[in-house]
Order: sequence, then structure tokens, then C-alpha cells
Amino acid sequence: MKRGGTTEQKRQAGESAADLVESGTTVGLGTGSTAGYAIDRLGERIDESLDITGIPTSYQSRQRAREAGIPLVTLEDASPDIAIDGADQFAGTTLIKGGGAAHAREKVVDSAADRLVVVADPTKEAEMLDHPVPVEVLPDARPTVSDRIATLDGEPTLRAAERKDGPVVTDNGNLVLDCDFGRIEEPATLASNLASIPGVVEHGLFVGVATEIHVGTADGVVVQTE
Ligand code: A5P
Repeated sequence: MKRGGTTEQKRQAGESAADLVESGTTVGLGTGSTAGYAIDRLGERIDESLDITGIPTSYQSRQRAREAGIPLVTLEDASPDIAIDGADQFAGTTLIKGGGAAHAREKVVDSAADRLVVVADPTKEAEMLDHPVPVEVLPDARPTVSDRIATLDGEPTLRAAERKDGPVVTDNGNLVLDCDFGRIEEPATLASNLASIPGVVEHGLFVGVATEIHVGTADGVVVQTE
């Protein structure tokens, strides 16, 4: 499901976002390879005296933040001033996320932040979103949610694990349906339709959450806003 930007593009985007972070703030720590570079850079800046706390969005980002030496807190302790997160596809500042099955916690943390800075490589940009939308579902609700997604003209596919027999199980103990809707002409409408299905924990459409996108390119970082 992941698209193929280069390591250098991802690193540039991640570091550019991490360099925006100011001392005394709490940072939402996104999941994925590009957000990982931001976490690493924040760790370097802590060694140079940056004073922050972080709120991880997944098991992966928690582990990477620990390795980077970022002091961690939870949403019980603080609200993020800024969040830095990746995306599987973006059009303007509307995103599809969840390629790493972390979109439920990502949406909670990213939406709580005053500012969400998305970090991406150029292969993630689209004129119109058409990437399958990851939908996290309660395991018992998989058949009923699948039926409802079909009525929205979506084709759901249960995400299979790669080095385990059976499905991907999220950090929250749920399943993921990757739902192909073709070209998504009205993401806000689809987002609210998906959110209204009983048994859907969270879907990967992020509408009106991101404030800016940092895109790593061969010529440096391009910052896009709506
Ligand atoms: C995690 O579930 C996702 O939302 C990631 O943020 C997204 O898949 C981007 O990952 P990469 O930066 O590895 O492409």
C-alpha cells in the first residue's frame, strides 16, 4: 500500500517539520517512515537543549521516541501544541492515512493538536484522492461494516498480515478493511458516511485536520498550505 518516495525525500520532510518545534511544547508523534525521521531529529535537538514532551500515536512511534530520548506523556497529561505525521496520499491538505494501521490514534492526537504538520514525499500527492481508505473495525463488526461500505460503492478488503497467518490486528485489537472507492470526489461526505457506520472505530480520511504539508524533493522542502 505504501508508495515509493526516496529515503532522502522522507528524511528532508521529517527534519523540516521537526525544526519547527519550539521548547516548552508538547508534540504529537506520528507513525511511519517519514514521521520517524522527524522523531529522530527531535531526539537530536533534545541533545542540543530542546525541551519538549511527546505523545506517541502507536507502538512504533512510542518505541522510536524512546530510542530518540523524547520524554513521553499521554493525552491525560497534556494537549499537543503541534503534531507531525505522515500520509499515504494527500490532495490539498486532505489526507488518507492508515497504511500502518495507526490512523485511529493518529486522528485522535493529530486532531487535538493546534497545528498538524504533514510530512511526505512527492509520490503521495494527488489531484484527487483515490487511494483505498483504511477503516479500522471492531472484529465482530467486519461483515456488517463490509456490507455498509458496499452500499457506499466501496470495495472492502480485509488487510492481511505479512509475517503472520490471518489479518492485521491493530494496536487497539481491531481489524482493518482497505476500502477502494475509486476517485473520491467528496471526501468530507464520505468521511461522515464512514464515521456513521456502527462498528467503525475510525477511518483514514483526514478532512480539515492538517494545516500544512512539508514535501521533501530533490531540491529541498516545499511547504504547501490549502
Ligand atoms: C500510519 O498508519 C500511516 O498513517 C502513516 O503515517 C502513513 O502510512 C505514512 O507512512 P510513510 O511515511 O511510511 O509512507
